[in-house]
Amino acid sequence: MRAAGPPILGKAARCAALCRAMCNNGVLCAAGRGGETPLDRPWRAGISIMQNTNTPSSVPPTTDAGAPESTHFGYQTVGVAEKAGKVAEVFHSVADRYDVMNDLMSVGLHRIWKAFTIARANVRPGMKVLDIAGGTGDLAKAFARAAGASGEVWLTDINDSMLRVGRDRLTDKGVLVPAAVCDAERLPFPSNYFDRVTVAFGLRNMTHKDRALAEMRRVLKPGGKLLVLEFSQVARPLAPLYDWYSFNVLPWLGKKVAGDEASYRYLAESIRMHPDQSTLAGMLEAAGLSRVRYFNLSAGVVALHEGVKLDY
Ligand SMILES: C[S@@+](CC[C@H](N)C(=O)[O-])C[C@H]1O[C@@H](n2cnc3c(N)ncnc32)[C@H](O)[C@@H]1O
Repeated sequence: MRAAGPPILGKAARCAALCRAMCNNGVLCAAGRGGETPLDRPWRAGISIMQNTNTPSSVPPTTDAGAPESTHFGYQTVGVAEKAGKVAEVFHSVADRYDVMNDLMSVGLHRIWKAFTIARANVRPGMKVLDIAGGTGDLAKAFARAAGASGEVWLTDINDSMLRVGRDRLTDKGVLVPAAVCDAERLPFPSNYFDRVTVAFGLRNMTHKDRALAEMRRVLKPGGKLLVLEFSQVARPLAPLYDWYSFNVLPWLGKKVAGDEASYRYLAESIRMHPDQSTLAGMLEAAGLSRVRYFNLSAGVVALHEGVKLDY
């Protein structure tokens, strides 16, 4: 059982002073950026780089358009108001076994995908970074080290179970960052504040992805960068094998390791319902981001999308 920690912060405004003190005093800043990163040898991680050529007008309509009454939760059609509760159940259920399941399901590949994201984020000392849907804190930990004592890194998630695991993990490693429960669709941060905003494997679960992307853009400074790491559309020749793995092995692993088959079936389904690479790139552009591009990782099992905010 995890030891009870201090309460998770609920509102950014209430804890800004405390968090600034934590950022200034408590965060390790030993990272150093020497050594080889996945950026230096992209082919080792199966990385291919794509520049988005979509214009917003060529973006296919998404389920977000026009605020529909219903949406999807995996393959189920549910009321818009229901989805967040169902997603919350999934992550409350898997929080304690989330990290071990990630390693097992991806045979460790998620570490390479995240390392690539961290390298692309290129966080430097003094930067302000917001990790949305940060869960157990892999990205926030690396960003805190790179931003150093003069930086400010926030670990946020809508789900307090996930956030508690993340905060406890980081604290155990001597990395103190403010942890705040917040919904990506209504971020409690000022506009034009962060140098980097990241979301890893979180966007897929959000009900109104367009609203969340608009919020991410709002809180970025002009010149700041958004990075979205998410499951995507795998290269066609691999699809049958990947489907077999997703709908047989993942739920089986979920049952054996996390005692929860349904949540891992939801994972497989939600990946299929998520916009593909170029659709998501178009959504970033529609949210007002520029220089949008994406990198296919592991043959498109995952893609990292980037966009820059150029103006206020
Ligand atoms: C698959 S986990 C990813 C955790 C972590 N970023 C990682 O890469 O390991 C997805 C996370 O998205 C969070 N999430 C879902 N909907 C959200 C929302 N509307 N706002 C913020 N976080 C959300 C969930 O609570 C969950 O912790």
